[in-house]
Amino acid sequence: MKPVVEVQDYSFTYQDAETPAIKDVSLTVREGEFVCVVGANGAGKTTLCNALVGLIPHYFTGKSEGSVRINGADTAETSVSDLSNYIGLVFQNPFNQLTYASGTVAEELTYGLGNRGISREEMRRRVKLVSQLMHIENLLDRDPLELSGGQVQRVAFGSTFILEPNILVLDECTTQLDPLGASEIFDIVKQLNASGITVIMVDHDMERVAEYADTVVVMERGQIRLAGSPREVFSVSDINRYGIDAPDYVKLSKGLERSGLSDGKLAITYDESLVMAKEVLEH
Ligand SMILES: Nc1ncnc2c1ncn2[C@@H]1O[C@H](COP(=O)(O)OP(=O)(O)OP(=O)(O)O)[C@@H](O)[C@H]1O
Ligand SMILES: [Mg+2]
Repeated sequence: MKPVVEVQDYSFTYQDAETPAIKDVSLTVREGEFVCVVGANGAGKTTLCNALVGLIPHYFTGKSEGSVRINGADTAETSVSDLSNYIGLVFQNPFNQLTYASGTVAEELTYGLGNRGISREEMRRRVKLVSQLMHIENLLDRDPLELSGGQVQRVAFGSTFILEPNILVLDECTTQLDPLGASEIFDIVKQLNASGITVIMVDHDMERVAEYADTVVVMERGQIRLAGSPREVFSVSDINRYGIDAPDYVKLSKGLERSGLSDGKLAITYDESLVMAKEVLEH
């Protein structure tokens, strides 16, 4: 599959900061890939997301080195609006994503579609599609200022997805949602990925990361320390030194091995741990 995101030796230092927030980051993401970015608070995950969609360097001032290309276009030379045709970001803080310049959720959803030469009919089609997808049909006439955090998060996701980007960047996009609401959103993300959309998702839930990711990228202090399949990354024995924890299933496998109940095989996901439990019970 062709590369759709090409980050090369990229560093960014925010104005007035002493050290770079991300440093010498190189990352290639291929069409249709599901990439999860993990790392401790302050590791640089949001900064990387902002760089992917062009908010860095166009909105945040600072010093950048290296390059970020989206579908071949250099983000430094392409407007955020042009980039948004290809790549969309759902912000970590959904309250920062909405414009609040609109009187209704429906207007908020279509805000980004203005000046794109999209017909009224097409706008209606997209609002319908996105509001069904995000389960916000009953909110379309509401004032965005009167929504709950979870509702704002759904609208924020909808306002990104309505532009129909081929690449979705999700920066901890379910922080405001209850567990069921969050898992519903992750199911949607999985479906979108299965339909060919490239996903780059920042997440702290390692069990989910292990289940969803083709590639896991581990960031620490602004740098990419590890990248590979969930099995490759979560097999690393001293993964805690990068400020992240392995999925519970990995810890369970290691516990079984220490107790002499398994031969050291690692279960990374829930399904794999079930297979392992069955093997243990049978022996
Ligand atoms: N607007 C800003 N101006 C100056 N420094 C910033 C700004 N935003 C982030 N930083 C700094 O850049 C570094 C990386 O922050 P970033 O928000 O990218 O981390 P993160 O991995 O997303 O963390 P979290 O898990 O808490 O969301 C931190 O040291 C942070 O203090
Ligand atoms: Mg962040």
